[in-house]
Amino acid sequence: MSTLEELKTLKELYTYRAVGFEYYKESKELKSESNTYMPNCMNELKQTVLKCYLCQLCKGRKNVVFGEGNIKAKLMFIGEGPGASEDASGRPFVGQAGQLLTKIIENVLELKRDDVYIANIVKCRPPQNRTPTYEEANICRPYLLKQMEIINPSIIVALGSTSFRYLTDDETPISRVRGEMLQYKNAKLIPTFHPSFLLRTPSAKKDVWRDMLKVKGLL
Ligand code: URA
Repeated sequence: MSTLEELKTLKELYTYRAVGFEYYKESKELKSESNTYMPNCMNELKQTVLKCYLCQLCKGRKNVVFGEGNIKAKLMFIGEGPGASEDASGRPFVGQAGQLLTKIIENVLELKRDDVYIANIVKCRPPQNRTPTYEEANICRPYLLKQMEIINPSIIVALGSTSFRYLTDDETPISRVRGEMLQYKNAKLIPTFHPSFLLRTPSAKKDVWRDMLKVKGLL
């Protein structure tokens, strides 16, 4: 579709919504696991995602934050969604929380940031950094699933409660589940605290350090 066609389609969708149609029914039954129609190549997938207008987050974004890193990585980090710095740059985890994540990767895991893959539950910034809705996460899910399928990591670290909840549909508080080793498709899933939480609560850093040592042991 050309950009003009996309804009026309988008305008039509907004018109439908203005007269009362809903974009999408928020229903767990409709949870989208299907990603068969997605490209199998990361670059093509990225081009598809860059042109996504399927949820309302497209309206406020400056850039789509697709994700970045080694597409053959054994270790994948999944955050919640882009913040202001990520939206401005189009890259995941580049703000303050991102700098802390980079330190964790380099100093605790003794890896380079380029060795791992970093993505988010939603690819566009929620307004005022609010938590993505179930609907937004669900619409973005096939993109993340396809990224995971292409990378096929052996370990996935879910950063924070939103990432953990939307990945697993499990509402257990992150403080109870962090550091556990769970199975997620072909990979081990280790939830831990989000780096933004660590910036507000430095006393929790020791827990994340412990979780990352577990990840290091598995690598
Ligand atoms: N927080 C996230 O969850 N993801 C980012 O990319 C940046 C901050």
